[in-house]
Amino acid sequence: MKNIIITGASRGIGYDAALLLAQQGHRVLALSRNEEGLKALKEEAGEQLDFLVFDLLKPDARALLDKVKPMEQVDVLVNNAGYLLKKPFEEITTTDWNRAFGVNFFGPAHLIQILAPFLGKGERGHILNIGSMGGYQGSAKFPGLLGYSASKAAIANLTECLAEEWKENNVACNCLCLGAVQTEMLAEAFPGFEAPVSAQKMGAFIAYFATEAHHFFNGKVLPASVSTP
Ligand SMILES: NC(=O)c1ccc[n+]([C@@H]2O[C@H](COP(=O)([O-])OP(=O)(O)OC[C@H]3O[C@@H](n4cnc5c(N)ncnc54)[C@H](OP(=O)(O)O)[C@@H]3O)[C@@H](O)[C@H]2O)c1
Repeated sequence: MKNIIITGASRGIGYDAALLLAQQGHRVLALSRNEEGLKALKEEAGEQLDFLVFDLLKPDARALLDKVKPMEQVDVLVNNAGYLLKKPFEEITTTDWNRAFGVNFFGPAHLIQILAPFLGKGERGHILNIGSMGGYQGSAKFPGLLGYSASKAAIANLTECLAEEWKENNVACNCLCLGAVQTEMLAEAFPGFEAPVSAQKMGAFIAYFATEAHHFFNGKVLPASVSTP
């Protein structure tokens, strides 16, 4: 049984991953802004799951620590929350950049800093960052996704650098760069496009990877995609 914190659990891939992890008997703390989604998740997941309304753009470290201190250690952190900015480069505003990098890079980075004292205590810890194929170096690129892709490339790079910096800290750090997954995020950005992978399937893979892969990988940025995009 592991203590697991997962962001972006109010819907989509994060919801399904959090639900499965709780059903597997892990102790899960689910973070997101939308309380309704988190309550629905709690209803389904039962007593193994607790939640906290948490905005990565305005992180309340004190509220988070109030939840985490009784857990004593965090075995797995899944930085799954994401914001898909879709705009031509010339139209991207400072607010857009701040939101994309805030949710996809600064928020996760800050969360890792807040949770550092609790990671790697006991069994080897795992930080799993959820990136995107758009932020995977050398992948096919698509117009309108520059801001999003750049922020995902930043979290992929953080993954490699942190694994090196923390190699003596008993914590592994990996990044999965997802291809298209059928979620509300995808449907809102690309109406009519049908992804070959469901949120449930990807959630199950992330649940497995988050709890097992740190025994085999560290500092790896891995594509998890069966399609382009
Ligand atoms: N679906 C795809 O095709 C695809 C492809 C590549 C990568 N990804 C990545 O996979 C991850 C999950 O994506 P998804 O498709 O499941 O997206 P989704 O359905 O839009 O879910 C995104 C989650 O992030 C949370 N979130 C957004 N802004 C937040 C903020 N400011 N603070 C805290 N939480 C915030 C949302 O919760 P609240 O609104 O409740 O805060 C929601 O639970 C993301 O990192 C995404 O970039 C997805």
